[in-house]
Amino acid sequence: MSDPSVPKCPFLDPTAASPHAEAAELRVQGPAVLVELPGRVRAWSVTRHSVIQALTTDPRVSRDFRRHWPGMADVPDGWVLGSVAFQDSLVNRYGEEHRRARGRIAPSFMPRRVKLMRPQVQAMADQLVAALGALAPGECADLRSALARPLTMTVICDLFGVPEERRERLGALIDRALDSSMAEDAALAVQNELYERLGELAAHKRANPGADLTSDLLLSDRPGEQPLAEHELVGTLFTMIAAGFETAVNLISSAALELLTHPEQLARLRAGTIDWTDVIEETLRVEGPVMYVPLRYALEDIDLGEGVLIAKGAPIMVGFAAAGRDPQEHPDRPDEFDPTRADKSHLAFGHGPHFCVGAPLARLEAEVALSTLFERLPELALAEPGQRPARLPSLVVNGPEAVEVVPRPRSAPVTPG
Ligand code: HEM
Repeated sequence: MSDPSVPKCPFLDPTAASPHAEAAELRVQGPAVLVELPGRVRAWSVTRHSVIQALTTDPRVSRDFRRHWPGMADVPDGWVLGSVAFQDSLVNRYGEEHRRARGRIAPSFMPRRVKLMRPQVQAMADQLVAALGALAPGECADLRSALARPLTMTVICDLFGVPEERRERLGALIDRALDSSMAEDAALAVQNELYERLGELAAHKRANPGADLTSDLLLSDRPGEQPLAEHELVGTLFTMIAAGFETAVNLISSAALELLTHPEQLARLRAGTIDWTDVIEETLRVEGPVMYVPLRYALEDIDLGEGVLIAKGAPIMVGFAAAGRDPQEHPDRPDEFDPTRADKSHLAFGHGPHFCVGAPLARLEAEVALSTLFERLPELALAEPGQRPARLPSLVVNGPEAVEVVPRPRSAPVTPG
């Protein structure tokens, strides 16, 4: 029985059936709205562009659950948002600890380094698109599982030296770990197996170091720096592999879907009136691949105005994908995909000290995958035009579950006579 003395608050739909409509409703209600998450956890949902910018740069807001979330003790085992909220890595560090942890990872993803990855990403895209082109006329394929996922998964797993035979299961477990609609016992089983597999991977890399980023994390070649402890190595592997492919896979899938449902924009792209950067940035604005990031915590009472006060210790869900559709920021058709618009500003990669480390890599992967796909398969079409695919059941990642296409449509039948 629910306690009648506790005021009701909106429940964030864990199946994420209409995340943008839900965010739009919350956005008009206030600068932050108290919502209920699965597991009966209450948190402040923030969906306005300006408030997200303010809170993500506010030193009174932390991501360190151990130090700054007193309510953590009440969270049920197998909490569906636990795999993200309790990652033991740079993401959930605050202040100086965060700067130190980020300093070990970020240099490998600087634009200069990422540029050098282009040939490898291109070779992968060539291979995957060739397989799509080899399908019989009229045969269907899913762009998510046949292109976006294998490309982004291979790139991040190669970088971190994840052996081939471990990738498939790990990827499937990470997919499941981001499903917010699961029951707690199922989520607990997934989280346990995920951490077991990541632990095995860490042990494997300790025993078999190589020329990869995991092996680099096990070294301490800078003065005053310690090798990563086991728990932090496992947490960092989760962060990097999950952030590395679960997001970019949605950027590529959503951009392909938008172009295939907006043939006039595809025609502009082919005519050179707009370019891939326009398409990618507009997709990031309108379909940010990260819906919410759980969680941040108020270090003291924070008054947001309009009668909203986030109390010390209260958790905050930042809705990065919602920022791009904020009508305050984009008064002109905020929900419409229009890569010709001049202002495509978004917060899809976050803001402030936790700004996405992988943004240059994600943009490169998207450009290579999409340009190769649309240039090599000029007749590519949706398998079921007019039908919007189901969305991922996740409060964290945002995108279509599948993008069914016909890479080589059958030619129109010749009518006799
Ligand atoms: C389109 C693709 C991507 C999107 C939309 C995206 C989005 C984000 C967002 C919103 C944040 C900020 C989280 C917060 O402040 O709470 C973030 C952080 C992060 N991202 Fe990405 N990401 C993408 C691709 C990648 C890739 C490819 C990598 C790996 C190379 C990556 C690694 C990270 C890491 C490590 C952080 C944490 C940074 C920190 O806490 O200092 N991301 N990302």
